[in-house]
Amino acid sequence: MKALRLGVNIDHVATIRNARGGAHPDPLRAAQIAKAAGADGITAHLREDRRHISDADIDRLSREIALPLNLEMAATEEMLEIALRHKPHAACIVPEKREERTTEGGIDAVGGHNRLQPIVRALKNAGIRVSLFVEPDKRQLDAAKALGAPVVELHTGAYCEAWASGDRALFDTLLEKVRVAARYGTALGLEIHAGHGLGFDTVKPIAAISEIHELNIGHFLVGEAIFTGLDAAIRRMRALMDEARAEAGAAR
Ligand code: PXP
Repeated sequence: MKALRLGVNIDHVATIRNARGGAHPDPLRAAQIAKAAGADGITAHLREDRRHISDADIDRLSREIALPLNLEMAATEEMLEIALRHKPHAACIVPEKREERTTEGGIDAVGGHNRLQPIVRALKNAGIRVSLFVEPDKRQLDAAKALGAPVVELHTGAYCEAWASGDRALFDTLLEKVRVAARYGTALGLEIHAGHGLGFDTVKPIAAISEIHELNIGHFLVGEAIFTGLDAAIRRMRALMDEARAEAGAAR
């Protein structure tokens, strides 16, 4: 089975820093700890309102971390220009609404085809690996393929919410949706990633899906770091991912 990469999203280290407006805690230091704890990449979302990650953070992360940087970005001219300037290893195009607390759903790759096409093309031409953050829905995967995106990241937010609600039947249904989408996207030739809302309780069923190459996890890890430290939180997540992968491999 393919190795499963862990991208650690450090946005909320910046959220805590920005609560007081100083320099502590530093997202760059979090990225260094993530690397030592077994992360394969660092993910950061430069939001239009700069509520957490700043332009200066992206600049420092691009220059100073020894891990691939995955820049999450809205499909805007401003963000495209920033991505082309910094040339991160990867860019994940996400929908963005000012009033939302977090990225609430996937991007509409079907309805947004004409708007997304030039952005996907420009990023690809610059050698940046493009992914589209989409709902686990076949139409969205078809649309991502039509746009020429090599990667999709499946939104696991609804799946995680079903876990939190205790609705086991809904949880099973939404997990199956992710499984089906991962299989379908792979058959289309897309590389499959997943993320949003994942924690220790929800990561293993997703990590066990053999078609998934990468998970991007942030909020839970930064929250857990308050209690156990960032290094321990990431190591535990990494261990659960590896365990799920090994168990799924043995069951085959
Ligand atoms: N993947 C994408 C595309 C996201 O937008 C986010 C949230 O910024 C994540 C993964 C990580 O989600 P969480 O912080 O809930 O783990």
